[in-house]
Amino acid sequence: MPLVTTTEMFKKAYEGGYAVGAFNVNNMEIVQGITEAASELKAPVILQVSAGARKYAKHAYLVKLVEAAVVDCPEIPIALHLDHGADFEICKSCIDGGFTSVMIDGSSRAFEDNIAETRKVVEYAHARGVVVEAELGKLAGIEDAVNVAADDAQFTNPAEVEEFVSKTGVDSLAIAIGTSHGAFKFKPGQKPQLRFDILEEVSRRLPGFPIVLHGASSVPQDLVKVINQFGGAMPDAIGIPEEMLRQAATMAVCKINIDSDVRVAMTAAIRKYMAENPSHFDPRQYLTPARTAVKEMVSHKITEVLGCAGNA
Ligand code: G3H
Ligand code: 13P
Ligand code: ZN
Repeated sequence: MPLVTTTEMFKKAYEGGYAVGAFNVNNMEIVQGITEAASELKAPVILQVSAGARKYAKHAYLVKLVEAAVVDCPEIPIALHLDHGADFEICKSCIDGGFTSVMIDGSSRAFEDNIAETRKVVEYAHARGVVVEAELGKLAGIEDAVNVAADDAQFTNPAEVEEFVSKTGVDSLAIAIGTSHGAFKFKPGQKPQLRFDILEEVSRRLPGFPIVLHGASSVPQDLVKVINQFGGAMPDAIGIPEEMLRQAATMAVCKINIDSDVRVAMTAAIRKYMAENPSHFDPRQYLTPARTAVKEMVSHKITEVLGCAGNA
């Protein structure tokens, strides 16, 4: 089947009590590892591209890689999504350039400005059959478009969501309930917590409406250990406990964003391979276990966290 939007995926996910994984893609091995896992498990999947990914790999290469995955995995629905679009211009460029879904991230703007920019993107996108994700509340962490210090992070205010959704016409909404971007989400000794009360209140106010969780990597400690054992330095890397994400997936959360865990899996595999095979210099030799590590990570997420296996 051709690239799809997330509309049908989210409807089935909401009704089925599971979430669809949205994994960031930056190169061929990542695209292949993710889609091979989703294909084997008959799971829908969202491949998402950040501004940084477009800068690194170029828009055309990423679109063609994802189109190749669609040909390679014809039996599963695949959506191509812009992650954290900073403004109308980047969203327009992705809508015009073959994406089926875009995120306009106006979370750092004032409420009215967020509404205005989101509305503009929605009008342009919907006229072209593309769906739109927006964000209310601020997650801590760093990515290309947004750099929010932990002290500036803000939980989503449920009292704002109905007005935001009705005025913008947006298709899904990312909310801030305690997740954050990157591999260092909590300080050592800090107890990971998510505000399920906010999620519940948001879904009560928006019945049947798909909610998105960003910053949802769990940073598996066995892989952090491998990285540190083979020359890495990631002390105190901590993520969101998987059981919390599993719980969110059974609620109104229909899309869970994962990037750091894929990075950690690849880095652990490459560091180990390099340390154990110091004479090898063919990139295919170390990128093969890296791609397998991506596939294993995504298979694990689909079966143990998202619960979306068999729903393609
Ligand atoms: O939320 C951000 C994603 O992890 C993308 O990260 O901007 O470094 O590509 P990036
Ligand atoms: P992580 O850094 O937790 O993987 O979050 C990724 C993300 O939210 C991409 O938008
Ligand atoms: Zn994000």
